[in-house]
Amino acid sequence: MALFRKKAPELTLESLPREAYPAHIGFIMDGNGRWAKKRGLPRRMGHVSGAQTFRKIVKACEARGIQSATFYAFSTENWKRPQEEVDAIMDLLRDYLKESLKDFKGENIRTKFIGDRSALAPDIVALMEEAEAETAHKTGLTLNIALNYGGRHELVGAIRMLAEQVKDGTLLAEQIDEQRVSDTLDTVGQPDPDLIIRPSGEYRTSNFLLWQSAYAEYVFMDVLWPDFSAEHLDRAILEYARRHRRFGGV
Ligand code: IPE
Ligand code: IPE
Ligand code: MG
Repeated sequence: MALFRKKAPELTLESLPREAYPAHIGFIMDGNGRWAKKRGLPRRMGHVSGAQTFRKIVKACEARGIQSATFYAFSTENWKRPQEEVDAIMDLLRDYLKESLKDFKGENIRTKFIGDRSALAPDIVALMEEAEAETAHKTGLTLNIALNYGGRHELVGAIRMLAEQVKDGTLLAEQIDEQRVSDTLDTVGQPDPDLIIRPSGEYRTSNFLLWQSAYAEYVFMDVLWPDFSAEHLDRAILEYARRHRRFGGV
């Protein structure tokens, strides 16, 4: 009899109601180096290709009506890499910022950066600030780019700030609650990620949105970031929609 049991209807993106979509998606853009190595190219070329994928996936998120997307572009630990590779990543970032400052005009994307800016080159910081100012009034996708970002570093910064306020007498220790901590992070005012996608076949967070991801759904995919496509995004969204989020309840 079991043979003839009717199968549950296949969930498809077309049939997915709006409310089943994740409001905020995080992307750990990993696998650029391996993508290049596989082709006998320098690692830098993997980052060039990864930057193109990033542009494509930002557009795909916008087209799907996603409210926020956070892309992990450079971690506080990535400075450990050879100087040549760090320089190549920073140069790509410069190119992207200059180019997008022109593109932004026609797009409804609000760009923000999270992470510690103090270690970045002043010209890059100026471009980042310009991009944020130019797009602050946009109402479409909120695009967060995590640059020199580390979840632990962000939390240490927040703890220091709160400690200073307690020392000054402007805050009582007992006033520190989850909301206060959230409001002291770089992501203040933004929704927590619902879905975090990590391609490249690694199964770890690598210090991405530690506090904010407490109840995020993770989708790990065996594809290198430069090969990540809108179809992979759709597959991850569908996988997310199939999950049963309980938030500690039943
Ligand atoms: C991600 O790709 C890009 C950054 C971390 C800046 P990787 O450069 O980490 O690529 P793999 O993991 O070495 O393949
Ligand atoms: C995570 O990738 C950081 C970014 C994607 C920016 P890594 O390649 O740095 O992470 P690990 O070293 O594999 O954990
Ligand atoms: Mg990596």
